[in-house]
Amino acid sequence: MSLLSVEEVSVRFGGVMALQDVELTADPGRVTGLIGPNGAGKTTLFNVITGLQEPTNGRVKIDDQDVSGLKAHQRARMGLARTFQRLEVFGSLTARENVLVAAEIRRRWSKDGSNPKEVAEAVLERVGITSAANERVDAMPTGLARLVELARALAANPRLLLLDEPGSGLDTQETEAFGDLLLELANEGLAILLVEHDVELVMRVCQLIHVLDFGKKIAEGPPSKIKADPRVQAAYLGADEDAAPEEEVVPG
Ligand SMILES: Nc1ncnc2c1ncn2[C@@H]1O[C@H](COP(=O)(O)OP(=O)(O)OP(=O)(O)O)[C@@H](O)[C@H]1O
Ligand SMILES: [Mg+2]
Repeated sequence: MSLLSVEEVSVRFGGVMALQDVELTADPGRVTGLIGPNGAGKTTLFNVITGLQEPTNGRVKIDDQDVSGLKAHQRARMGLARTFQRLEVFGSLTARENVLVAAEIRRRWSKDGSNPKEVAEAVLERVGITSAANERVDAMPTGLARLVELARALAANPRLLLLDEPGSGLDTQETEAFGDLLLELANEGLAILLVEHDVELVMRVCQLIHVLDFGKKIAEGPPSKIKADPRVQAAYLGADEDAAPEEEVVPG
């Protein structure tokens, strides 16, 4: 039994099949990758898993329990946390305040007796942004603001963390440190589902990778198998220019 199981999930938006019969699992102790070209359905799948988008077909299970009837906040209480492709942080608050809000919400519903201030400091430290803790998030570069969003997700003490393009906006060194952090978190037992266009990062940290193309899963396996898969190369890996996130404008 997996912590997360996605079974036969389809989503139709008018004439577009954003997802078609998608199956996927994520387990504690590892980073699971979800990759594919722009418009493949990755964010839509995150929305289905977290309860923001009702699937046209299929179901999502957490600990083998069908959570179809549960709203996003109820799923959050089961241990789901996420970050958004389009950053969703409180821009007018500082990094510390953003994380503190999440830590306070957690204490309220979990009744775990955690001290929000201590949780916030520990998480800021963990993500490596303590030195920027008093900066307003809307004054930060995107990469740093993404780390604030990650810290906020971690403050909820999740079991499953869904990250939607967390690496965009980070430079090479920051990306490397970020990869290390993901591996550490997984080692401590967190289940991570990672959507990311930085293929090098994905190949480095993921044990298992699922590949979507036009809403369908075209491959699943360890990095070595995914890299060598001709369908994946044709749809995604061989077409780097098309797959690059909008921010990364290729000169010339
Ligand atoms: N709310 C919506 N209404 C209509 N169509 C949508 C909606 N959300 C997504 N789509 C369409 O569904 C498809 C999948 O989009 P989605 O955002 O899930 O892709 P993605 O894999 O996350 O892409 P990217 O890598 O660019 O973030 C696309 O064709 C998109 O235009
Ligand atoms: Mg997306």
